Amino acid sequence: MPTHTHFPLAIYQADLPDAALNKLGMLEAVRDLESSDDEKRNFEGRAWTGDIHGVASVQDDSRFGWLVGQVETHTRLYLQELGLELKDVALYIQRAWPVISRYGEEIGPHSHLTAHVSAVYYISVPYSGSDAAGCLVFLNDARLNEVCAGLGLENTELFTEWNGLNQDQAAYAPTEGRLLLFPAKQRHAVAANETEDDRVSVSFDIVLTAKPNQTTGKSYEFLAPPPSTWKPFGTAI
Ligand SMILES: [Fe+2]
Repeated sequence: MPTHTHFPLAIYQADLPDAALNKLGMLEAVRDLESSDDEKRNFEGRAWTGDIHGVASVQDDSRFGWLVGQVETHTRLYLQELGLELKDVALYIQRAWPVISRYGEEIGPHSHLTAHVSAVYYISVPYSGSDAAGCLVFLNDARLNEVCAGLGLENTELFTEWNGLNQDQAAYAPTEGRLLLFPAKQRHAVAANETEDDRVSVSFDIVLTAKPNQTTGKSYEFLAPPPSTWKPFGTAI
């Protein structure tokens, strides 16, 4: 008798063909951006992430132009694979920031709640393709098959095996030249870099809105209006 499965999480993966050609230029740019950060806010054991250091607009930095183009292309492909009709949707990179993870550094569980789609691209990874430099781990908060709440927690021993029907996480080994796209709301974390060399990546937050000339129609209610129509508050109190 079959057991059916439904509601899969969609993680998009692309290994970019010109990664090696573009590696050194972006690596140099990331180092440059980090060295220009004069207000380090790192917590002990946490990776340096540009978004909390005022380095969150690499989408406007020509040194990342190739990568921005790749992210745009693959985001469209990802959304089309999800079944979206893109003709009525405008896409924006809301922010994009480099991440440097040194020995022992990790990134705790979080989600990107100001965005709709998130991406990570790995510029440089020691022991690329292995778990050593810190996996990206997606956390299964839905736990649709957890028939008793808490059964899947670490302090129980009730599951005889971890399998596709009770898995509580999905881990992606960091791989040089690889782009991953995922729903921004999906909670995730990054395991510690256990190597002596740095793992260097760039993260992107992408937003979907209505198109500027598309302020009516069936989809409009479910998309934010185009940012060009937003009115900032005045200065009066
Ligand atoms: Fe993240």
